[in-house]
Amino acid sequence: MPMTSTAAPPRDACATLRGRDLLSIRDLTREELVGLMTLAVDVRREPSRYAGALRGKTLATIFEKPSLRTRVSFHVAAHQLGGHALDLAPQEIGLGVREPIADVARTLERMVSGIMIRTFAHDLVVQLAAAATIPVVNGLTDFSHPCQALADYLTMLEVKGRLKGLRLAFVGDGNNVANSLIFGAALLGVDMRIAAPTGYEPAPGVLAWARRHQTANGIACRVVRSPEEAVDGADVVYTDTWVSMGQEAEAEERRRAFAGYQVTEALFDLAAPGAIFMHCLPARRGEEVAAGVIDSPQSVVFQQAENRLHSEKALLVALMG
Ligand code: CP
Ligand code: NVA
Repeated sequence: MPMTSTAAPPRDACATLRGRDLLSIRDLTREELVGLMTLAVDVRREPSRYAGALRGKTLATIFEKPSLRTRVSFHVAAHQLGGHALDLAPQEIGLGVREPIADVARTLERMVSGIMIRTFAHDLVVQLAAAATIPVVNGLTDFSHPCQALADYLTMLEVKGRLKGLRLAFVGDGNNVANSLIFGAALLGVDMRIAAPTGYEPAPGVLAWARRHQTANGIACRVVRSPEEAVDGADVVYTDTWVSMGQEAEAEERRRAFAGYQVTEALFDLAAPGAIFMHCLPARRGEEVAAGVIDSPQSVVFQQAENRLHSEKALLVALMG
């Protein structure tokens, strides 16, 4: 898809997103997802054009789990757009504990212009968004991580020059990151193969949604039998931690279940010539990926991390600008 000169200015391509929430990639149309990536490219190329897009506006951020990339990228994005980000410590606001979720939403909407939240249960974000009249952005739940997928597809487009028909192998846990990549693959026509141990595959509902929404090009996201089958001929090899935040009690059981699913040099060698390695970070070298892969020239993990900033600036411009 062309990502350069569109007929309409990139901001206009995202007009349908103004005032909306971003809870999941599946809430977007293909045009909106492409529009956000196009806007991210423009925001990076011409930052001065967007320097005042959030002037006078505040984004409240709530992190009920740790974060480096998501916290820094949203805060820096708000600042670079002329706005302000305010971090609310979860133990101080006590969402649903100190006071009802709806009361937090109805208070915040009188003082800030948007809320970004990272939490455990996806339903909490759904409830917050339903109660608030201002945009709510999902900064990761146990179900999905839409901001990561947005930056990831932008990275694939930058490095590989296309998305439609691109072969993406996801090796590991069928988790929040995998779910968001699947939704994006279905919208963008990416040919995604997932290799996960039995019991750790993406939820059937996620795959069923992808089947229903995949573009009419004969491509389907599918779970395959082995990491080798997923990676064979892939343009992109992606993995994520075996133990997501909140799953620490299952760590040993998970490490046993995922033995054989490490992206090793030998596994990566099965990918297509010029293939790239991707990981949302944080990574555990020696578990889901070998150091020789993530630290190789084929790895684009820090380009992904940087793209969190550009794509989040685009998201804030589109939703709150
Ligand atoms: N990839 C990502 O979301 O990183 P953080 O957990 O550090 O925010
Ligand atoms: N699946 C990981 C992603 C971290 C960015 C987690 O939820 O911990």
